[in-house]
Amino acid sequence: MVFSKRKMKQLFAFGVAIVLVICLYKSWGSPASAKLSLAIASDNDNELEGGFDRGRFGARHPEPRVAEQSRDGGVVADRREELDKEQDTRMNELHEAKKQILQLERKIQELEGRIPRKYPDVTFLNYKNRKRILITGGAGFVGSHLVDYLMMQGHEVIVADNFFTGRKRNVEHWLGHENFELIHHDIVNPLFIEVDEIYHLASPASPPHYMYNPVKTIKTNTLGTINMLGLAKRVGAKVLIASTSEVYGDPDVHPQPETYWGHVNPIGPRACYDEGKRVAETLSYAYAKQENVNVRVARIFNTYGPRMHMNDGRVVSNFIIQALQNQSITMYGSGKQTRSFQYVSDLVDGMVALMASNYTQPVNLGNPVERTIQEFAEIIRDQVGGRSKIIELPAVEDDPQRRKPDISRAKKYLNWEPRVPLKEGLIKTIEYFRKELARSNHSQRNIFVPETTENLEK
Ligand SMILES: NC(=O)c1ccc[n+]([C@@H]2O[C@H](COP(=O)([O-])OP(=O)(O)OC[C@H]3O[C@@H](n4cnc5c(N)ncnc54)[C@H](O)[C@@H]3O)[C@@H](O)[C@H]2O)c1
Repeated sequence: MVFSKRKMKQLFAFGVAIVLVICLYKSWGSPASAKLSLAIASDNDNELEGGFDRGRFGARHPEPRVAEQSRDGGVVADRREELDKEQDTRMNELHEAKKQILQLERKIQELEGRIPRKYPDVTFLNYKNRKRILITGGAGFVGSHLVDYLMMQGHEVIVADNFFTGRKRNVEHWLGHENFELIHHDIVNPLFIEVDEIYHLASPASPPHYMYNPVKTIKTNTLGTINMLGLAKRVGAKVLIASTSEVYGDPDVHPQPETYWGHVNPIGPRACYDEGKRVAETLSYAYAKQENVNVRVARIFNTYGPRMHMNDGRVVSNFIIQALQNQSITMYGSGKQTRSFQYVSDLVDGMVALMASNYTQPVNLGNPVERTIQEFAEIIRDQVGGRSKIIELPAVEDDPQRRKPDISRAKKYLNWEPRVPLKEGLIKTIEYFRKELARSNHSQRNIFVPETTENLEK
């Protein structure tokens, strides 16, 4: 289903209706002109009568005219009555039409509110340089930022998403754009389209989401990945698989280089995701070896930014939402476990660089600046400016104790490293969540649109 076309059809139908009503309205004239035209019509009728009289009795003889009028007085009165009735009917119709116009205008305004009229300025690429790029999971947090980047570069972007954790709102600023298409599709089923590149991101990413339906999470990461690798094989597309630092499990090597094989509990609550992603990597290299598919594997570390799901359940969004509402900030465990967070635009830069490179081995994409969860809680509370207490809750099963990427590979082969400092990224993220919390109905928009092309100009 192409969502944008439906909306455009609705708008078009209303446009046609409006034009019809306006034509009707014009053919009747305004109420004032209606009165005037009726008055003129009645005068003309009298003129006609007079003219007739004049014709019979001569132009400058009022007496015969009066005589004629009184003789035909009954007929004239009837005619007037008829005209009055006709005028009333027309006036009623006119009022009715005006009411309808008003209703249509309101409807159009409402629809226009939903469809942004102006798109961000995208670069023009000629057909030789313009690629058709599929992003699975493109309506999700990371995917939607990747959509922005590639759209701004002037490519044709197709998003396939089942909207499990993603939202149309994340990409609504592109709906209707000639380079953009949104397909409601579950990647567990095959997809037959022609593309040059595939960014395969479809998969729930936060623990509450992927644990909600573990079997589906495994299917998405295995069957879904087979479908995408199969598509890449059929059309000769390059494919980038969004893997995760979770393939390292609860690591006993620190920081984690790509050569580390990991420490994953295969039957724990997180296994549906961790093992699902590990199989996705295995599948990628099997397709590369056996079917010559051109694969890239990004091992993504914790990422944050605007458009994160409100129920994401991970540290950054949880802490920000709690702080904004002056609730206690809840840490699972002692708060001594470490994480490193990268801002989403850094990740997008890294993924695009990896896709463009010739490097085919897995690459860590993350921010190596490591902080304890306690530190994050304090930084976020201070930046929000609230008075939240920081409290401890029991630790979560299989929660990794240390997480920090070794990004030497990304530096060496992609010339990539994160650039956005934590405080800067947090400002944008906090602002986004503040607006989200302030929304009380659907018509209040909180659309985070790409504001700068700075990153694209590198
Ligand atoms: N955000 C992070 O910190 C992080 C860290 C490591 C890896 N990743 C990986 O990056 C990718 C994107 O993560 P995100 O944070 O944007 O998550 P997200 O939940 O916001 O986005 C995932 C998207 O995939 C869609 N999806 C899920 N199952 C699908 C299916 N069967 N068919 C079609 N669409 C489906 C969802 O509706 C959503 O739009 C995921 O593959 C995730 O594993 C993310």
